[in-house]
Amino acid sequence: MIIMENKIYIFDTTLRDGEQAPGIHLSTKEKLEIAQQLARLNVDIIEAGFPISSKSDFNSVKEISGKIKDRRIAALARANFKDIDAAGEALKGAKQPVIHTFISSSDIHLQYQLKKSREEVLELAEEAVKRSLKYTDMVEFSAMDATRSDWKFLCKLFEVVIRSGARVINIPDTVGYVIPNEFAGMIDYIFENTRGIEDVIVSVHCHDDLGLAVANSLMAIEHGVRQVECTVNGIGERAGNASLEEVVMIIDTRKKDLGVYTDINISEITSTSSIVKSLTGYVVAPNKAIVGKNAFSHEAGIHQDGMLKDRSTYEIIKPENIGLRSSKLVLGKHSGRHAFIKRLTELGIQLKEEDLEKAFERFKSLAEKKGAINDQDIKAIVENELREVPEHFSLKYYKVQSGSNIQATSTVGIEIEGRVHKGSSTGDGPVDASFKAIDKITKINAKLVEYNIEAVSGGKDALGSVKIVVSTNGTEVMGSGISTDIVEASIKAYIDAMNRIVESTE
Ligand code: KIV
Ligand code: ZN
Repeated sequence: MIIMENKIYIFDTTLRDGEQAPGIHLSTKEKLEIAQQLARLNVDIIEAGFPISSKSDFNSVKEISGKIKDRRIAALARANFKDIDAAGEALKGAKQPVIHTFISSSDIHLQYQLKKSREEVLELAEEAVKRSLKYTDMVEFSAMDATRSDWKFLCKLFEVVIRSGARVINIPDTVGYVIPNEFAGMIDYIFENTRGIEDVIVSVHCHDDLGLAVANSLMAIEHGVRQVECTVNGIGERAGNASLEEVVMIIDTRKKDLGVYTDINISEITSTSSIVKSLTGYVVAPNKAIVGKNAFSHEAGIHQDGMLKDRSTYEIIKPENIGLRSSKLVLGKHSGRHAFIKRLTELGIQLKEEDLEKAFERFKSLAEKKGAINDQDIKAIVENELREVPEHFSLKYYKVQSGSNIQATSTVGIEIEGRVHKGSSTGDGPVDASFKAIDKITKINAKLVEYNIEAVSGGKDALGSVKIVVSTNGTEVMGSGISTDIVEASIKAYIDAMNRIVESTE
């Protein structure tokens, strides 16, 4: 690989670190959808999973490796032979496989977690890189908790892995602890004191516990780092990872000052964010930079006045450059399949035949109810269809009664293996009554932890999108549903979560 001096390689870890966020559980099909979108976004490396961690992670890495040939696919492995062999096996079909192996380097981790000496860690790291080379010549090594490690030891560790054949060395701020100037000093020190560092790509992987992941990644770039590990919408362990769209748009907006570039196709940023949001169920804060719903809204009179005179007064990024367009009324109940497919193509959405059929059916029934269908509606329909888990429980009907002076009641019919089961309950409002009715049928003991509702588009007849998180046996699972009726959207979201619980326990 020729290392381009001013190019910043974007290593996307949405499907690995991102998926480690509490409550996210993506099926292989969903991961493949996201990976295909990441390819359209043109990230350099897709970290597809951690194959030893579960059968489903193994299968996802395998599937993505078999289907996406035009970029590097990475798999994570701890520094032991079992993990590395699983990663190598899952990556077998990949055209450009990367094994990403890691071990902790901080004394805190060595003492309390690994219970190993520094010498043992050096040995394990060397063996891990050598083992990985059996499967690919592209090996990345990460020193976990690097930012709380002894700098001298870190350089020694990096020297060992570079000598053993690692082509990328990664400096993770695993617990999001470092502050920008300190990180700059550490990176300078590593560059000055690690033999062989000029022959490898130096990477960073920053977590956002103190809200500094993007600032630290930027500081690292200014100090010579050429790969950034990040996730779409900044999802990931705890407070998440550096947000891909923020890192990329900082580089794009300030390229003259920074003197670096990425190969990201920025017009795909909005679609990527919305697919990840929809499939993971992780809500994006309205004020989130670049992809928040209000990121390009101007509210104050003085701002609106300026915008009308010249957009440059208050806008540093043209929203259309990142694929954000004002919504148009496009289709209705008389629109046919052809018009629907044409609009999907214009929106850059490609679907497999069976998904297309389902999406078209949903579009027709929504158009019957709602009349005019706009771009946001179409995207919501498609993303909801893609967000498919095997339907152990499927909604057949529901009936609710509620009002100011009566207790809410709900009756729900759910099909399980060909038989429709009926459950009824009262509750604190129609949604609560419906969830209780569903519990009577599924017999799953789950606690509602979060409930979010938002309108997909404007207007009184907008589609409502409900995203929930439920907790069962200590794990959190998400569910989502859309409908013009918010009780129905809530019921669908709850059933979706129940299906995910069943899927994850099978
Ligand atoms: O945060 C971290 O240290 C990681 C490593 C596995 C790179 O995710
Ligand atoms: Zn991480």
